[in-house]
Formats: sequence, C-alpha cells, structure tokens
Amino acid sequence: MPPTEANLHLSVALAAAVAAGDVLRKLWPKPRQVQSKGPRDIVTDADFAAQAVVLDRLRAAFPDHAILSEEGRHDIDLNSPTPTWIIDPLDGTTNYARGLPVFAVSVALAWGGVVQVGVIHDPLRRESFYAARGGGAWLRRGRAKPRPLHVSAVADLGEAVVGLDWAREPELRALTLAAVQRLVTRCRTVRATGSAALGLAYVGAGWVDAYFHHMLQAWDVAAAALLITEAGGVINTPAGAPWRLGDAQVAASNQGLQAAFGAAVRGE
Ligand code: 2AM
Ligand code: CA
Repeated sequence: MPPTEANLHLSVALAAAVAAGDVLRKLWPKPRQVQSKGPRDIVTDADFAAQAVVLDRLRAAFPDHAILSEEGRHDIDLNSPTPTWIIDPLDGTTNYARGLPVFAVSVALAWGGVVQVGVIHDPLRRESFYAARGGGAWLRRGRAKPRPLHVSAVADLGEAVVGLDWAREPELRALTLAAVQRLVTRCRTVRATGSAALGLAYVGAGWVDAYFHHMLQAWDVAAAALLITEAGGVINTPAGAPWRLGDAQVAASNQGLQAAFGAAVRGE
C-alpha cells in the first residue's frame, strides 16, 4: 500500500533524524571544533555536519517545504500554511562537546502553527521517539518493532521525578532555581538532562513524570510537544496556558500532575 502523506512525512523525518544521528555518533566523543555563539552558547562542527544531512534529505523529498533549523535560517513564520520543518540537528551541544552521552536530533513538521509530525532521535542508544498527529506516540529501539508510548500514571507530586534544564540567561536561571527549590521539597527527585528535546521525550515515554524549562526555541520543543500530547500528556506554559508553537517556556507532565506541578513551577 502506498504511504499516506502523513506516513511519508514521518518516514522521511525518521530517516533524516537517524542519518544525522549516525553522523553525530561517528564524530563523538572525539574533540570537536567548538565556536561560541554567545554567552553559554556553543556550536561544533558536528552540529553543522548533522544539519547538512537532515536538510539534504528533507529538501530532496519535499522541495516546496520551508525549513527552520537551529544553525540555519531563522526568518521563518511558524504560523504559515506552508509545511515547515523545524530542526535541531544536535540538541544538547554542551553534553556532546564534553563527552556526556545525552544528546539528540529533533525533527518536526508543522503547518498553520500546528505540529503534525515529531521525531526525537537518540543516536547513542539508537532510540527514536516519534509521533504523527492523531497516530499515538512510539518508541523504536534499534531494529526492534516500535512500541507505543504513554506518559506515566504518577498523579502525586510527592512521587514524581521531575526533569528540567537551565536557560542560559542569569535572570531565567534564578527563576528556574526558585522553581527547583519549591519542587525538590515537594517531589521525589529532580534531574537535569542537558538536552531539552530528550528531557521532554522522557515525559512522553513515562520515564520522568514532568519537565520544565524557561527558555526554549521552537526547534528544541516542537517534536517533543506532539510526542507528549500523543502519549496522553499535557504541555503548557508555566502560567498554565496551553503551549503554542513559538512559546519559549514549557511545563509538561501527565494530566494528573498538571495542576500541582504547574503551581510549583510558577510559585504557588
Ligand atoms: P542546545 O543544546 O541546542 O543549545 C540545556 O539547558 C537545554 O536547553 C539544551 O537542550 C539547550 O539547547 C536548551 N537551551 C538552553 N538555553 C536555551 C536558550 N536560551 N535558547 C534555546 N535553547 C536553550
Ligand atoms: Ca537545541
């Protein structure tokens, strides 16, 4: 049977993320050429090499689509009706450059401001977390048959494992620190992942119960946002509004934790 359009988008996204991940895995953990993009913000030659692989694949398959990529063009309207790929070729660059084995490729497709397809690929573990709108959330590990993902059933904040990562800006770090201070006395424990895309994917997989971040770009979060909702979870802003493509701050969890977790993040 020929693939449906949604399946074609998903299969190309998966293949592109895996191909970029293969590049990242081969280059890691050898020393990298590291350039500074700004305070606490670096890029390596591996980011560019992985990006080139993703863009080649997407352009070949979908020449009419737009592309927003972390190390590429940023002047893209996320609400445009044109199908738009949103790519982080290496999420967790600091981990990658330090030899910490936690990083991912994130590939999403959106149109009209709505994410349609999302893939987060962890090249070291050969794990692809993925979703197509309305089709559930899935994990493919190596060559194994994909299995469906669901957010955790932990509904008591006292039992919850909470993920987070740090923004680069000192004033946002202070906000995150205040939230951590509240959460760490109310929940089971707190983990900083170093890759927002993976930290969020772990909510979709039910491996952590909740995750928050005070400064993300669309390429860090688009794929994972769809994964989480398709896995039965909720992705909000810390203020409690539904997260929308382009929102920088996220608080994601299962539905049972949403109220208590949101309150702890925002300071209630
Ligand atoms: P990066 O690795 O692509 O730079 C670490 O805190 C996690 O949050 C990483 O996924 C990092 O993305 C992301 N992150 C931190 N500060 C950010 C910022 N100011 N803008 C976008 N992403 C940020
Ligand atoms: Ca990123």
